Amino acid sequence: MANNVRPASMARINTPELAKAFIDEQIAEIRKEVGDKKVLLALSGGVDSSVVAALLIQAIGKNLICVHVNHGLLRKGEPEQVVEVFQNQMNANLVYVDAVDRFLDKLAGVSEPEKKRKIIGAEFIRVFEEEARKLTDVDYLAQGTIYPDILESDGVKAHHNVGGLPEDLQFKLVEPLKFLYKDEVRVVGTALGLPYGMVYRQPFPGPGLGVRVLGAITRERLEIVREADAILREEFDKNGLADKVWQYFAAIPEFRSVGVKDGKRTYAYSIILRAVNTVDAMTATVEDVPFALLQHITSRITSEVEGVNRVLYDLTPKPVATIEWE
Ligand code: XMP
Repeated sequence: MANNVRPASMARINTPELAKAFIDEQIAEIRKEVGDKKVLLALSGGVDSSVVAALLIQAIGKNLICVHVNHGLLRKGEPEQVVEVFQNQMNANLVYVDAVDRFLDKLAGVSEPEKKRKIIGAEFIRVFEEEARKLTDVDYLAQGTIYPDILESDGVKAHHNVGGLPEDLQFKLVEPLKFLYKDEVRVVGTALGLPYGMVYRQPFPGPGLGVRVLGAITRERLEIVREADAILREEFDKNGLADKVWQYFAAIPEFRSVGVKDGKRTYAYSIILRAVNTVDAMTATVEDVPFALLQHITSRITSEVEGVNRVLYDLTPKPVATIEWE
């Protein structure tokens, strides 16, 4: 595992100058290793894959092929941002795959959380594999592995989901961030010119909104939770909480309950809001969000999002709850 240990001589990258030096060094190394061969990358739009993409675009330009799989479980505006930043602004070679129907059809009627996760993971690999097979002369696969992934998994990449490709599609790996901690990845991403909101975004689980639409995913509840989540994010941004709170999101349960609107009874969904702080996600405390702000968000969600008649704020720390509802 010698090549999986961060060199002791490596300085902590915490200034734009150190980031620039790291970028220059990586660009030279990538060019030397890859030459004029093509590199494939699954670009989710999360911090790590976005930084890898921006770095490789500088190093090898259009020889990097970014595949963005829209599985329908991303937050509002995310697939559009990937296209805007990478295709329009950085002129990347981006393959955008609209796989929304495929994923949602596979997930229809599946309510068991582990099964949902497995379907999302397996389908992702299948879609990515199909795209990879359409391409020729690709020798390398870039991955956004970062140092904690290596430390936490004893050298086996735990959360990177293209690791399950079939035998005949084995590529040589390019992992330029593998010795970086998250804070360093963010400094490098900023130096590469990525937007602040992309580099400093809160953690978002791989299965996306799939773990926040509880029970069997329906398009109706998926759209409701996506809209409610967007309102929560907008209000946290406006009120200075976006940079202060570690993770915050909306989830939607399967049940409906009775409410009243314009003098008529409704039978609609609830939205659960959660906002937590943590260091390592093993334990978490609940953010003391100002009550007036919770009331304002409640009023916006219930008036702007069709199909919601209650908003609940989760007061439970981890343990005894987990962060996600699943
Ligand atoms: P829990 O719910 O276990 O979550 O308290 C701890 C942290 O992990 C995130 N999470 C995931 N991240 N893939 C990920 O990359 C996943 O499948 C996944 N599931 C949970 C969760 O959002 C929280 O930050």
